[in-house]
Amino acid sequence: MNPLNLPAGALCVLIGPPGSGKSTLAARYPDTWRLCLDFYRGLATDSEADQSATPVAAEIQALLLDARLSRGLNTLVDSTNVLPHIRAGLIARARYWQRPIAAVLFDVPLATAEQQNARRSRVVPRHVVRELHQMLPTVDQLRAEGFGTVHLASEIPATADAPR
Ligand SMILES: Nc1ncnc2c1ncn2[C@@H]1O[C@H](COP(=O)(O)OP(=O)(O)O)[C@@H](O)[C@H]1O
Ligand SMILES: [Mg+2]
Repeated sequence: MNPLNLPAGALCVLIGPPGSGKSTLAARYPDTWRLCLDFYRGLATDSEADQSATPVAAEIQALLLDARLSRGLNTLVDSTNVLPHIRAGLIARARYWQRPIAAVLFDVPLATAEQQNARRSRVVPRHVVRELHQMLPTVDQLRAEGFGTVHLASEIPATADAPR
């Protein structure tokens, strides 16, 4: 159950707009590997959409990130991660702990992200999906930022029980 062949202790950053399939991929790994801002916003406010809880969610994520990386535990960051400075912060922690750094780029067409967003439990406004989709980096950009391995979500083998 390791569709990305992640090495031990790796940080894996999922990068994609809402509806691109990040959480679906993360669900193929143990729950404890997954850090998710949506989930922590929900824990803080009973609403995953409540952006006022983003700072506290980011603090929780940062604490868990260091807790896991320091122990050499695999960690998946299941948030949009389309902003370069957010990725830089994650890369810095993995470098500090000397862990392998991987990315999965959810290179889905905008129309697919929009359709799949409409099927999510929490539907994100369309303009937000569009804006975040436009901010998607390229594979070359991700390599230049310091990701040792970059996977394209479109190339990850599907399984019988998971679409991707
Ligand atoms: N490869 C895929 N093919 C078809 N449907 C998918 C695929 N990946 C995800 N989905 C569906 O799209 C919706 C959004 O996926 P999700 O993983 O929640 O996206 P994200 O976490 O990036 O917002 C879900 O209903 C999910 O079942
Ligand atoms: Mg998700």
